[in-house]
Amino acid sequence: MGVTSQTQALSLGEGSTPLVSAGRLSHETGYDLHLKLEGANPTGSFKDRGMVVAVARAVEAGARAVICASTGNTAASAAAYAARAGLDAVVLTPAGATATAKRAQAVAAGARLIELRGSFDDALRICRELGARPGFVLVNSLNPDRIEGQKRVVGELIEQLGAVPDVVALPFGGGGNVTAVAAAVEESSLDVRIVVGQAAERPTTWASAIRISEPAHAEHVATLVSDGRVEVVTLSEDELRRAWHRLAQEEGAFCEPASAAGLAALTQLGPGNGETAVCILTGHGLKDTGAVEGLHEDAPVVAAELDAVLEAIG
Ligand code: F0G
Repeated sequence: MGVTSQTQALSLGEGSTPLVSAGRLSHETGYDLHLKLEGANPTGSFKDRGMVVAVARAVEAGARAVICASTGNTAASAAAYAARAGLDAVVLTPAGATATAKRAQAVAAGARLIELRGSFDDALRICRELGARPGFVLVNSLNPDRIEGQKRVVGELIEQLGAVPDVVALPFGGGGNVTAVAAAVEESSLDVRIVVGQAAERPTTWASAIRISEPAHAEHVATLVSDGRVEVVTLSEDELRRAWHRLAQEEGAFCEPASAAGLAALTQLGPGNGETAVCILTGHGLKDTGAVEGLHEDAPVVAAELDAVLEAIG
C-alpha cells in the first residue's frame, strides 16, 4: 500500500519537510527539542502526505469526485490533488469557522466549496453519507489511504534525526494523525512515547483547525491510551496560545494555532530530562494570519522620515 505509479504522477513534492533543532526551547523545556515543519508541504499542511495517496486511489477506483468535511486544511489539500488528477472536489466546511487562506486555496484550485450552517461534525456526518454514493470517494482520514500516507512522517523524522526520538508530540483533532503515527511506531516496533494535545474547548477553540467535538478516531485513540501507547493532554486556550507564541517568537517557527498543541502538551507534562523530543508542527502560520490579529498591536503608521522611524523604534 502507499505509493503507486499513480501516486507518483500526482505528487506535488509532499514530504521531506525540514526537521530543525530548537535550541532556545530545548534549554527552557529540558528536552533536546526538534520541530518537524509540516507547513512546508505543498499546500501548507501535513494533510498532503495522505491526500496524494487517497486521491491516487480514487482515480484508480474510477471516482468522479472526492469529498471531504474540513476545518480548512483537508479541503485545501483535497482541492489541489483533485485538480491535478482531473477530478471534482466537493468540500464542506462549517460556515464562518475556517481560516480565509484555507478557503482561498480550495476555491483557487477549483473545488466546490459549500459552507454549512453547522459544525465540522455535521459536515463529516453528511460527507460519510455522500461517500456511500457511487462516484464519490470520501478523503477524510476515515479513508485508510490517508492514514497510510501520513505514516511516512515517522520514518522520515527518524532518518533526519539519525536516531529514534524518545518522544513525539502532536495535536489531536479528529485523531487521524495520531492513528497514523501510532501505527508507524507499532509497525517498526519502535520505543517512542507519543504525546498528543487536544483543546479543552473542542467546539469553540481559537485553534480553528481542531474545532471538532466528536473525533472520528475517538474510539481507536481511547484504545491506544488504554494500551499505554499514547498519552492525551487536555489544553486550555491559554496554554495553546502560549506555545504558539513561543514557537514563533523564540524559534521563528510560525505555525498555525492548532500546530502548537504538541509543544503545549509537552510543556504541561513538566520539564524533560534531556530526552529527544520531536514536535510535529502540522500547518503553516500563513494559513491563519487572522490568529495574529487581536493578539498583537497593529504596526504604527509614521511619516516617511528617519526621525519618525527612530521615534517609533523607541
Ligand atoms: N493540525 C492541523 C493544522 C489540522 O488542520 C488538523 C486537522 C489537525 C492538526 C488535527 O489532525 O484531525 O488528524 O487529529 N484538520 C482537519 C481539516 C480537521 O479539516 O483540515 P487530526
